[in-house]
Amino acid sequence: IRSMLVDGYGRTARDLRVSLTDRCNLRCTYCMPAEGLQWQPVEQTLTDDEMARVIKVAVERLGVTRIRFTGGEPLLRPGLERIVAAAASLTPRPELALTTNGLGLDKRVDALAAAGLDRVNISLDSLDRERYARLARRDRLPDVLKGIEAAHRAGLLPVKVNAVIMRGVNEPDIVPLAQFCLERGYELRFIEQMPLGPKGEWDREAMVTAEEILGALQERFSLSAAEEPRGAAPAQLWRVAADATQPGGRVGVIASVTHPFCGDCDRTRVTSDGQVRTCLFSRTETDLRAILRGGGSDEDLVAAWTGAHRAKPRAHGIDDVDFVQPDRTMSAIGG
Ligand code: GTP
Ligand code: 5AD
Ligand code: SF4
Repeated sequence: IRSMLVDGYGRTARDLRVSLTDRCNLRCTYCMPAEGLQWQPVEQTLTDDEMARVIKVAVERLGVTRIRFTGGEPLLRPGLERIVAAAASLTPRPELALTTNGLGLDKRVDALAAAGLDRVNISLDSLDRERYARLARRDRLPDVLKGIEAAHRAGLLPVKVNAVIMRGVNEPDIVPLAQFCLERGYELRFIEQMPLGPKGEWDREAMVTAEEILGALQERFSLSAAEEPRGAAPAQLWRVAADATQPGGRVGVIASVTHPFCGDCDRTRVTSDGQVRTCLFSRTETDLRAILRGGGSDEDLVAAWTGAHRAKPRAHGIDDVDFVQPDRTMSAIGG
């Protein structure tokens, strides 16, 4: 199916990120305030059937080929397996991935794999229990590690691990995280922090850059640029040479701020309350929920969604003088 989601800069969207809930059981400092947020009223959240319909239209009518389930924390959605199974039954079958904080993942990996989930990305910002607890504001590191191990065992491969690095917080974790993931065969990606958390908390000057992260890695490992083409993927990959103390492998760096990849963006997003966002940093949204609940046809959904993409912003504009952070935080957009 040809992609119908074409924007004014010639980009086409094949990758759909669906946020299944705005709630989360952690309070990572870069993402949410300590007290949490005003949660969306349940009646505004799309039901499992509404989610399945949106996904079906995206795949069968708009040419979407990859679906990523995000949150908040998508494992808080009891219907996750049902939604995954519905997506897996579509033709052509999309690739199905999950981005999660890993809590409780160990108990659900088998059901998720059986439903058709292909792979998982798990957030892990520190291997030090105290630092993890300070950063996530919950003392849950052992549970997360259980989740990661279980996903690997269940064959949800490649298991990718995401680490946002913050100055004065978890820079000492850079090398240990790499070591840990290389030893276990996980693909680690370091992420530059974006201004999508609590308002006023992000500081461009304080942000740890991809260059600094690579510098820290190069003090310990021998890195070379990976040969596989990057395409529209956010992560720039590096090959790590094996040595006496660790196996070789790959690590990625997601430099959204210092090396934006907006020019190659192939994403579209739907929030848990049924709004299309053409960009993480969009200032506008397109309401699919009203169409779904107002008795609209698939054709109406297609028209609204394709219309939204014609106005997709060129880039995030974080470095523009007039940049304003979007109203929704990351947890309500879905990474
Ligand atoms: P795969 O590489 O396909 O496994 O997925 P991914 O890296 O795109 O997804 P993941 O959910 O693991 O996201 C990793 C980081 O990339 C998060 O910090 C996301 O916010 C960021 N990210 C994902 N998509 C985009 C995007 O379109 N724009 C920007 N700027 N960042 C993104
Ligand atoms: N900047 C960059 N990445 C973030 N994530 C959450 N908040 C931010 C932010 N402000 C990451 C999480 C998760 C992914 C979905 O997005 O760590 O791995
Ligand atoms: Fe795409 Fe917006 Fe992300 Fe840039 S910031 S890569 S345009 S979603």
